Formats: sequence, C-alpha cells, structure tokens
Amino acid sequence: MTATKGLEGIVATTSSISSIIDGVLTYRGINIDDLAEKATFEEVVYLLWYGKLPNRSELAGLVKDLSDNASVPAEVLSQIKLYPQNVNTMAALRTAVSSLALYDAEANDMTPESNLRKAIKLQAKLPTIVAAFDRIRKGQEPIAPKQGASIAENFLYMLTGKDPEKIAIEALDKALVLHADHELNASTFAARVTVATLSDIYSGVTSAIGALKGPLHGGANEAVMAMLEEIGTADNVSSYINEKLENKVKIMGFGHRVYKNGDPRAKHLQKMSQELGKLTGNMNWYDMSIQIEEIVTGQKGLKPNVDFYSASVYTSLEIPRDLFTPIFAISRTSGWTAHILEQYENNRLIRPRAEYTGPSHQAYVPIDNR
Ligand SMILES: CC(C)(COP(=O)(O)OP(=O)(O)OC[C@H]1O[C@@H](n2cnc3c(N)ncnc32)[C@H](O)[C@@H]1OP(=O)(O)O)[C@@H](O)C(=O)NCCC(=O)NCCS
Repeated sequence: MTATKGLEGIVATTSSISSIIDGVLTYRGINIDDLAEKATFEEVVYLLWYGKLPNRSELAGLVKDLSDNASVPAEVLSQIKLYPQNVNTMAALRTAVSSLALYDAEANDMTPESNLRKAIKLQAKLPTIVAAFDRIRKGQEPIAPKQGASIAENFLYMLTGKDPEKIAIEALDKALVLHADHELNASTFAARVTVATLSDIYSGVTSAIGALKGPLHGGANEAVMAMLEEIGTADNVSSYINEKLENKVKIMGFGHRVYKNGDPRAKHLQKMSQELGKLTGNMNWYDMSIQIEEIVTGQKGLKPNVDFYSASVYTSLEIPRDLFTPIFAISRTSGWTAHILEQYENNRLIRPRAEYTGPSHQAYVPIDNR
C-alpha cells in the first residue's frame, strides 16, 4: 500500500453534479461560461439539486421556498450575540450552522424528502446568518430577510438595510454562480465523508464549512485582499511579489490542484473586477491584480484561480474582507447539499487506508521504566 500525498489524481467517487474534465467546468453538463453569463444563482441551485434547469414555475417555486425559509431561529441569533468579540467569521458561521440542527425538529430524519427540505433551509438561512453576524458584531440589530428577494439581493439588503443597486446584485449573483460547485474539492469531500457515515445533513455542511475555512481552500480570497492591502499601490507590486517568489512564499489566489492551464472561473471574475473598478472610480485593486498576475504567471507559470479576482470584486461591493469566505460558503452550500443528497442516494461508508510509516515490533514499557 502506497499513499498518494493529498490524494492527488485519486478518483474517490462517481458523481453526476459537476465536472472539470480537460480544464472545462460544467454543472450538470452545462459549461460554466454559459451559466455565468446567462443563469441566476437560484437557477443554478435548482440545476445542482434536481439535475435540470427549472422552467418558470419551478424556478418561482424554489425562489419562494428559499425566501420562506430565510429566517433564522431566534435562539440562533441570541447565541450569535453571545459570541466573543472579534471572533473568526468562518468559525462563527460553522458554529451557527451547527446549532441550526438543534432547532430543526426533522434534523435527524433521513428520508429523501426531509433531506431536500433541509437543503432548502440551509441554503436559505446561511445568508441570513452571515449578514446577522456582521451586524451583531458592529452593535447593530439583524435585519429580517425581505420576502421574495433573490439570495444575492437579500444578502446585500440584510447587510446594510438599504436596497442594493442592480449592478451590485448582478455582480454578487454571478459570483455565487461561479462558486456554486466544483467537483470533489476539499470541503465537498469533507461533506461526503461525514454523511457517508449516515450522519445528518447539518453535520455534513458543518464539516464542509470547517474545511472551506482554510487558506489553501476558501480562505484564499481573504488572504488575497490582505496581500493587496499590504502592497498598497501598484508601484510596490513588483518588489513585493518578487521578494515573495524568491523566498518561495506562496502567492494566494494562484495555482490549482487540477487546473494547470488556468481556472475557467477566473476570467469572469477578472472582467467583473475591472467593470466594478471603473464604476466605483477605484481601479487600484484591479490594476495591482493585473500586475501581480503578469509577474506570477510570467515567472512561475501559475494562473489565477477563482479566489484571486473575487477579492477585488467583493471589495468593490464594499463587503468586509472577512466576509469573503462566508460568501463562498453561501454559494457552495448549493453544491455541498447536492453532493450530500447524491451520497445518500447511493451510499457506502468512505473509509480509505493509510500507509503505515511508524515503528514496528515495539515492546510495551511499564510506566515506571520509561
Ligand atoms: C491551490 C493549491 C493549494 C494547490 O496545491 P497543490 O496541488 O498541492 O500544489 P503544490 O502546493 O504542491 O504546488 C506545486 C508547486 O507550485 C508552487 N506553487 C503552487 N501554488 C503556488 C502559489 N500560489 N504561489 C507560488 N508558488 C506556488 C509550489 O510551491 C510547488 O512548487 P515546488 O514544486 O517548487 O515545491 C496551491 O496552488 C496553493 O497553495 N495556492 C495558493 C492558495 C490558493 O489560492 N488556494 C485557493 C485554491 S482555489
């Protein structure tokens, strides 16, 4: 038995949800380029869960279901108010999502109908939790979700209490489409491993949030913005990036385990970053990002991934930096839950082996002789 570090190249399951064959990302066989240009996030959620695009009444039904389930139990909001100050946003989200299960009478019902209902609840409530958390930590009261609004609109509304501009809703909606699913990424694998024990869907999504939190996965978008802020202006890019590369420090937002010729989502986010920069009259983040890309791609051959330009996109939308990864979680909940439902449909415990590298034939030494 020989281990493959990081399970690179290992095919661990079958799935009919999304694929990244030959560097092309598709959801249910539909190219991400088409979905990014034409679909709303709610259409994508339907596509991931039901395996087909919704017709008008199916889409309206899902939008209504999500809207009807967007409120968060008062107990969960009260708990968020008790979280310590300055707590990590992904840790807060992980804890709040886990506690949702305590207030759902059907949390442990394993019927497919119940699991689908809980997928809707999770997708509907995550934006409300993230927005409520942000307001509570600022000493403000959470804002109740707006009936009938899309997830993107509602989230921006619940953050600020103001009706968001159309361009902001469209930009966030597109970002949600682009982040919705991505084959067997680390957090999706974590979700599938958890529910393959026949644990409940809340446990699966909680595991996934824990995995997404790390800077090698969803946490990279925040790290990109931290880097841009540290660099400050375009004049400093070259010396900063070259020094990092010389010292073999990873540049966040570059590289990918599977895509070696570029992440197909990055170009959409780059375009959005440029458009929003022009609109807000602040091209600094975009200009710096372009320069960084030129250097990193030129010297290392590494291309930007989904996290690189999403950092400047969210900043242009005036979203605080530490909400970037929670927004990724809001979007990826659609993919996680689709994978969880798929795992339940044809389940087998996921239990691989480890290549043992420790000592052998060791004698037990009594405690007084050690
Ligand atoms: C995404 C990532 C985790 C993939 O990791 P992986 O498949 O295990 O690839 P490795 O970390 O083994 O990288 C392979 C080589 O490329 C280099 N490399 C990979 N990503 C790099 C980056 N962002 N900046 C600089 N060098 C990088 C590694 O140092 C390594 O070089 P070496 O062979 O000289 O040691 C990795 O590219 C990374 O850490 N990127 C930054 C974090 C990030 O943006 N994550 C979001 C992913 S969507």
